[in-house]
Amino acid sequence: KRVAILISGGGSNMVRLVQDMQTDDHPARPVLVASNDPAAAGLAKAAALGVPTAAVDHRAFRGDRAAFEAALLEPLLDARPDILCLAGFMRILTPAFIDRFEGRMLNIHPSLLPKYPGLHTHARAIAAGDTEAGATVHEVTSDLDSGPILGQARVPIELGDTSETLAARVLQREHQLYPLILRRFAAGARERFDI
Ligand code: GRF
Repeated sequence: KRVAILISGGGSNMVRLVQDMQTDDHPARPVLVASNDPAAAGLAKAAALGVPTAAVDHRAFRGDRAAFEAALLEPLLDARPDILCLAGFMRILTPAFIDRFEGRMLNIHPSLLPKYPGLHTHARAIAAGDTEAGATVHEVTSDLDSGPILGQARVPIELGDTSETLAARVLQREHQLYPLILRRFAAGARERFDI
């Protein structure tokens, strides 16, 4: 299976996905890492791992979402991906774009969905007095952060946690969860698998 990954920043999840796919028993191979930000640090990490990269600056399209996506689709379709992974990708995609990848598009979200879709998930969990937080890998549908859940990883919220300390704890678990779920998904598994 050919996997393309979309990032917006550091790409720590992308690195783990690529490194896992570079072990020889994996059913998938990374074929492209693309970003909406040409300065995304993850692009250099992908290149260092030998993965082709592309960058389409969304700011060049000043709010014309469809035009940005049309530009992003060029390198993306050239790579002929079977699966598209969003990993720290911070742009909302239109239903037209998502329809092209429906059923083969994954995202990782830093909360225990359906709790806390959207942004600032860790601050919201702490403010709510939750004792647990975590991450969710789900199939991407046109409803933001609400497609079928493929797996979750949980962490405790500790007394004195800030959104930064909690984010760091959750990120470690994201790095375990996403590669595992992608392996399963690429092998055809669709039932939920929590860690
Ligand atoms: C992190 O907040 C992570 O929880 C979320 O996206 C952000 C950046 O992740 N999935 P990455 O290091 O770019 O993968």
